[in-house]
Amino acid sequence: MTTTPDHPADDDREHGGHGEEDDAVRRTADPGESSRASRHWWDRNADEYQDEHGAFLGDDRFTWCPEGLDEADARLLGDPAALKGLDVLEIGAGAAQCSRWLAARGARPVALDISFRQLQHSRRIDLVRGDEPVAVVQADAAVLPFADGAFDLACSAYGAVPFSADTAALMREVHRVLRPGARWVFSVTHPIRWAFPDEPGVEGLTATASYFDRTPYVEQDEQGRATYVEHHRTLGDRVRELAAAGFRLLDLVEPEWPEGHDQEWGGWSPLRGRLIPGTAIFVAQRG
Ligand SMILES: C[S@@+](CC[C@H](N)C(=O)[O-])C[C@H]1O[C@@H](n2cnc3c(N)ncnc32)[C@H](O)[C@@H]1O
Repeated sequence: MTTTPDHPADDDREHGGHGEEDDAVRRTADPGESSRASRHWWDRNADEYQDEHGAFLGDDRFTWCPEGLDEADARLLGDPAALKGLDVLEIGAGAAQCSRWLAARGARPVALDISFRQLQHSRRIDLVRGDEPVAVVQADAAVLPFADGAFDLACSAYGAVPFSADTAALMREVHRVLRPGARWVFSVTHPIRWAFPDEPGVEGLTATASYFDRTPYVEQDEQGRATYVEHHRTLGDRVRELAAAGFRLLDLVEPEWPEGHDQEWGGWSPLRGRLIPGTAIFVAQRG
């Protein structure tokens, strides 16, 4: 099973570091159930996530993925000098590390996340650094609380997209809040990983599930309520959803595992990274 970089999901593994033993199943999960599960899961796990990954993420670094591809080098948002003065929406921002990088380049970021606890970590970092606080908004990415055409750019590093049940609607919503010609750049787990166990070692190299099976991955409690949900789309699904929402795909980046990078993150490891892609980054432009 594939998961987001933070989440060591595995049918036999302990859930979320809280000692709970939730069942991992494959079943449908509608937008409401998915959204509720994400909000609670991220509120419960935000402290552990920031403890474990905060150093790698950096307080004001913009990294797209466990492969360590930085926006400073990749320039997927365009020329960094042109970010000055842009209204930018970061979706599924966590502690808003990427937004802080954008603010340092003169952009006006808004960091949106469904989890209040994640956004509290953003405040914590701002207070420690003595920075002007990043503007944060708690909301579901599927229903953005902004006017049409409010932003010049939208980005997301593994935020919201893998957890949302209706990503076609999410793409339409991002399109709505962007101005014509604006970019929408987001990274997700590479869809091919859905077919493999989410293990950093050799056991993570044998395909055991169908890449084509879109049935969500759900962890549920004893009452059958979802506590964690991930939704899968194939590469083709993602391209079609972008096109249907009115975006043009400019690039699809599959970062290679860099020489000398030996830091694992869940199922992302040098061993697997050298053989199969772990991240897909979609670079799209609003029509
Ligand atoms: C893997 S973390 C990535 C956080 C941050 N971008 C980073 O790189 O550390 C995923 C984030 O997406 C947020 N998220 C999940 N579902 C969401 C939704 N439906 N709307 C908005 N944010 C959501 C979570 O709360 C979490 O902070």
